[in-house]
Amino acid sequence: MKTIFSGIQPSGSVTLGNYIGAMKQFIELQKDYNCYFCIVDQHSITVPQDPTELRKNIRSLAALYLAIGIDPDKSTLFIQSEVPAHAQAGWMLQCVAYIGELERMTQYKDKSQGKEAVVAGLLTYPPLMAGDILLYNTDLVPVGEDQKQHIELTRDIGERFNKKYNDIFTIPEPRIPKDGARVMSLAEPTKKMSKSDPNTKAFITLLDPPKQIEKKIKSAVTDSDGIVQFDKENKPGISNLLSIYSVLTNKSVQELVQQYEGKGYGEFKSDLAQVVIEELTPIQEKYHSIINSPELDEILDKGAGKANLVASKMVKKMEKAMGLGRKRK
Ligand code: TYM
Repeated sequence: MKTIFSGIQPSGSVTLGNYIGAMKQFIELQKDYNCYFCIVDQHSITVPQDPTELRKNIRSLAALYLAIGIDPDKSTLFIQSEVPAHAQAGWMLQCVAYIGELERMTQYKDKSQGKEAVVAGLLTYPPLMAGDILLYNTDLVPVGEDQKQHIELTRDIGERFNKKYNDIFTIPEPRIPKDGARVMSLAEPTKKMSKSDPNTKAFITLLDPPKQIEKKIKSAVTDSDGIVQFDKENKPGISNLLSIYSVLTNKSVQELVQQYEGKGYGEFKSDLAQVVIEELTPIQEKYHSIINSPELDEILDKGAGKANLVASKMVKKMEKAMGLGRKRK
């Protein structure tokens, strides 16, 4: 059986972008693959975090994974910092990655731009991510489009290690959805929807109450011609809303364009709000039933235990290949 690994940072709320670009794929994939889903808390501390908030967000993200339908009997759900192999592999892979290739990452450029003091972890983020993936002999990494560059670098680092030391890593492929790989901001539809956007109207979170979802979609930036049509370049706002509508209903964009022919944005937006609310209501109900339960801790303990077994073995292989530690007599 092939293996899947994916991770989400517990920094802030999980958005509809995370859900459509990554999480929705996870539920389908867990039927046919050996899946590892990770709460990548060590990645989150590459930008400033309030420690109390971060801990809250970690638990919340774990509950959300389960609420969307991750089945802990099928998939391994765990927290990155609870499996020491990730930091160990991250360090070893930092000694394989080149500074030049890390500096070329667009996420690094975006997040460090204009900052006077940039923590080293922001630059060395990709080798940690490569470790996450390579530790589990991962075949496929389901992610949104923005992570493609990091997966390509993971492949380069893995191949370099295999050549330089010993052929121990499976080289993974990204799995990027055909539709919804890049959900855009509701406020500035030429920008990616991001949980770290200071404008909360720019994104919908999976835990937004229905009234707020309605409000945010109603105020989503569109254009003034009033025609529901897909044209990313000239009508980025409406095109983004059409994409979201299409992914959540499995109706093609073309079908939706026909359905709303001669109708204004008002009706389209209020229908879309209902679609989003219908998708998120059962997730929110499940979330609230899990978030404070001791069962959640049991699932995460079991997940860390399973991940640890696999990952610590790979760390030993990496260390041996690189010549770390000693040979016992
Ligand atoms: P993160 O936490 O930023 O996002 C989690 C997942 O959501 C996807 N995503 C989106 N997809 C479509 N439209 C959007 N607007 C949008 N915003 C986010 C991301 O592509 C991602 O799949 N570096 C990763 C976390 C990570 C990871 C890993 C992922 C660490 N280790 C190993 C896969 C495998 C990140 O920052 O994702």
